[in-house]
Amino acid sequence: MMNLTTLWQGAHDALSPGGPAAAAVDGLWKFLWITAAVVYILVLAAFIYSALRKRRDTADAITESGARLAVMIATGVTVLILFAFLIVDFGTGRKLSAAEPDALVIDVTGHQWWWEVTYPSADPSLQVTTANEIHIPVGRPVVVRLHTADVIHSFWVPSLAGKRDLIPGYPGRIRFQAASAGIYRGECAEFCGHEHAKMSFLVIAEPADSFAAWLAGEHGPAAAPATESARRGEAVFLEGRCVMCHTIRGTPAGSRVGPDLTHLAARQTLAAGTIPNRRGWLAGFIMNPQRIKPGVLMPPNQLSPADLHALLDYLGSLR
Ligand code: CUA
Repeated sequence: MMNLTTLWQGAHDALSPGGPAAAAVDGLWKFLWITAAVVYILVLAAFIYSALRKRRDTADAITESGARLAVMIATGVTVLILFAFLIVDFGTGRKLSAAEPDALVIDVTGHQWWWEVTYPSADPSLQVTTANEIHIPVGRPVVVRLHTADVIHSFWVPSLAGKRDLIPGYPGRIRFQAASAGIYRGECAEFCGHEHAKMSFLVIAEPADSFAAWLAGEHGPAAAPATESARRGEAVFLEGRCVMCHTIRGTPAGSRVGPDLTHLAARQTLAAGTIPNRRGWLAGFIMNPQRIKPGVLMPPNQLSPADLHALLDYLGSLR
C-alpha cells in the first residue's frame, strides 16, 4: 500500500498563521479557548469546594439568599462573556471581509473532486486556467472568488485563512495574504461525496517576480511535441478518450469536464493533491485512476505499453 503520509506537502496548520487573515482567526480562537479554559477551571473549583465543604460541616450550609446571589452573579458573568464573544467575533468578521482594492483576483471552481483555478483577464488570451494549484505573490492581498460546478464544497487553507463554503448558485469570496514565501496546503472542508478526502490543493506563495514569470508561462498554449515519441503521445491523447474531458490549449482538445492539462508538467501534484506529479504515478493514474482515487470520474484506460510511454513523454513535456 502506498504511503501517502510521505506525500503531504506544504504548511497545514491553523495554529501557526501564515498571514493576517489566518492571524485574525487564530486570535479569535485563542480568546475563546482561554476564556473557556478559565470558566472550566472556576466551575470545577466551585464544584470541589462545595463538595468538600458540605462533608466537613453540614451545619454551616450556604444560606438560601447566599445561593441565590451566587447564581445571579454567575448568570450575569455568563451573559457578559457571551457578549464579549459576540463583539470579538464580529470584529474578526469585519477584519476578514474588509475591501481590498488592489487585490489579485482569482476564480476557483470546486468540482467533484478537484479545483479549477482561473486568473481572469480583460484580454481573453491572457486568461490562465490551471488546476489544484494556486500561485500567489507574497505580501499582496488575494481575493478568491468561489464557485461550484456541482455540490457544496468548502475552501480551506488552514495556514492562510478560515473556511468558506462554495454554494451552488451563490458565488462567494475569501480574502487572504501570505506573509512569507512557501507552500500551503488546502483542503475541501465540506463533505462532498466519495472522494471528499482527496480534494486537496496547494497554495504556492512566491516573490512577485517569480509569480509574474509563472503567470506568463501559463498564458501560452502548450509546447508543441518536440520528439517523435511526444508526437505519438499527442496523437494518443487526441485520438483516444483523453480529449473527451481535458483541454490542452493549442490543440483541438478543449473539453472542460476534467482539469486543464496545458501546463500539466509544471504542477507538483496529480489528482488534487493525492499523488506527486511524477512519471510513474501519472502512468498508474492514467491506466487505473480508480485504484488511486476510488470514485474519481476518470475512467480506466487500456493503452499498449508503447502508447502509454509516448503519452507520458508528451504529458511530461507540457511545462
Ligand atoms: Cu469537495 Cu469535499
